[in-house]
Amino acid sequence: MHSARRSSNTIGPKRLAVRSVGHDEPASLSYPVAVGPTAAVLTLVPDRSLIMGFYETRLLPHIINVAMNTKAVNEERRRCLENVRGTVLEVGFGTGLNLLHYPRTVTKVVGVDPSNTSARLARKRIAASSFPVEIIGLPAEKIPVADASFESIVSTFTLCTIPDVASALLEMRRALRPGGRLYFVEHGRAEDPKVERWQERLNAIEQAVFGGCNLNRPISALIQQAGFEMERLEHSYLKGAPKFAGFLYRGVATRSAS
Ligand SMILES: C[S@@+](CC[C@H](N)C(=O)[O-])C[C@H]1O[C@@H](n2cnc3c(N)ncnc32)[C@H](O)[C@@H]1O
Repeated sequence: MHSARRSSNTIGPKRLAVRSVGHDEPASLSYPVAVGPTAAVLTLVPDRSLIMGFYETRLLPHIINVAMNTKAVNEERRRCLENVRGTVLEVGFGTGLNLLHYPRTVTKVVGVDPSNTSARLARKRIAASSFPVEIIGLPAEKIPVADASFESIVSTFTLCTIPDVASALLEMRRALRPGGRLYFVEHGRAEDPKVERWQERLNAIEQAVFGGCNLNRPISALIQQAGFEMERLEHSYLKGAPKFAGFLYRGVATRSAS
């Protein structure tokens, strides 16, 4: 069902290499077994997982592409990325909304994201970027890159969604050079107990509607548990967002040189 395949598409003057595991392909068309008139009705109604699969893989990336391209979110991107440098591993690359905000000190971006639909939506932004961009169409829990091969790691609004976030953070640390930095802006568990209670109540709905996104992850603790040292950490609420979805963790963490 998730057979690995490799494809490449020429985009403008650059070549976008996409390594894919077919995340966007519905696994199989499974229908209930029945006979007679019931069967005729049932064959017209695909099961719920098929509908959710279609929603998450084909529609949701379009929704995220618009919802995550607001003035307030883009201001967060600009602030997060202004000091990023060198070769960058961007985890949860999505539709490439960060590309516009990277400074001139960036020489290459390798984006990791299992969504083929997002990679397609990113094509124009990749073609317009002034540095090479490569997409690895795989989950970040196991990233096929060499140890210590990146100067910077970037994660924006992604640690909420990665299913095994602890493994992904260990992979990010492995890929980062000693002395390198993880730049992040994420939403997560709020400090205010009232807001936190709402996050707990609404988390299941959030997960169903936004492709497994969690409202209540303790982002800075997760980063530190993976062996990063927190260099800078700020909190605030994202302008215009409801508090339960907008408690931000902005910061920089390092992989110590020792
Ligand atoms: C809310 S979107 C954010 C996208 C982008 N980082 C941004 O700032 O616009 C979350 C992203 O995480 C990606 N994602 C989900 N599971 C993932 C995984 N296991 N590894 C890497 N990315 C994942 C989704 O495909 C989606 O692009």
